[in-house]
Amino acid sequence: MTSIPPTRLPCAELHLHLEGTLEPETIFALAERNRIDLEYPDVETLSAQYEFSDLQSFLNLYYANMATLRTAVDFAEMTDAYLARAAGAGVRHAEVFLDPQAHLVRGVALEEVMDGVSTALGSSMATHGISSGLIVTMLRDHTAQSAMDVLEAVLALGTPILGIGLDSAEVGHPPSKFVNVFARARAEGLHVVAHAGEEGPPAYVWEALDLLQVERIDHGIRCLEDDGLVERLVAERIPLTVCPLSNVRLRVVDEIGAHPLPAMLARGLNVTVNSDDPAYFGGYLDDNLTAVRDAFDLDPAVLTTLARNSVDASFADDARKAALHAEIARAAG
Ligand code: ADE
Ligand code: ZN
Repeated sequence: MTSIPPTRLPCAELHLHLEGTLEPETIFALAERNRIDLEYPDVETLSAQYEFSDLQSFLNLYYANMATLRTAVDFAEMTDAYLARAAGAGVRHAEVFLDPQAHLVRGVALEEVMDGVSTALGSSMATHGISSGLIVTMLRDHTAQSAMDVLEAVLALGTPILGIGLDSAEVGHPPSKFVNVFARARAEGLHVVAHAGEEGPPAYVWEALDLLQVERIDHGIRCLEDDGLVERLVAERIPLTVCPLSNVRLRVVDEIGAHPLPAMLARGLNVTVNSDDPAYFGGYLDDNLTAVRDAFDLDPAVLTTLARNSVDASFADDARKAALHAEIARAAG
């Protein structure tokens, strides 16, 4: 029996933007199918644009490339391609983000978006051995009313979702802007998460916890600037969905060797590793784990802890969590 490398242990991926899985080749194939003119003549020229100075410089390209997604089939294929690649990385449970507002503003119907993604997620277990759920992310640089409208439309449509999240340009768009939207989601029994402390200050993490009552913080690496916040996150075991390659490519940290992951683990934070937008940032979950393992010479026991944390931090039911923990125990030996 071949052993499973510690960077491909069974695990959950909890911070993954589906639209961030569109590889350059797929963008060109979709553009051709949907007769959309791209700004770039070929894959090489597009790929050469993947040098980012900050979050906004990435978001500009990320939203532009989404223009190639038009039909439910496009959304289903994108989702299925991610699941296939994630299965190869050891992912056995995925809670994926989707930005419906970014498609609605382009005139794509919510039904096309939600039907496509949910069809692929609906067969994720049978096709890829991955249990899955969908988290609808609200664009924080749009109005709170726009977020509320999307939430109401998603609820009316009835497509099953796990919860809502908050993403896009962080600085200048604090969690407090979305208090009513998150209260409405919680009243519907939905899970709630939010990006905070990626480029934004620790104060945004406090707001996400206190005002939005989130169950996980996406990124959160700037929490280390505030000892009181670290104490709170540790005491409440709030999971942080950390994305190392993303942080390097968006210049949140200078290089992988300067990433705060070891410091976060040393402080006792509940850290998970995720891939964020793998088509843009140089790799999927296994690539992220390999990068931090190599940069910090991480022991296999630490990689096992990260895998266990990911399962515990997920919204999977208890039976699924127990099955995943048993898989990890078998694989870790
Ligand atoms: N949307 C897609 N990727 C994102 C990120 N890393 N931060 C905020 N919003 C995003
Ligand atoms: Zn993200």
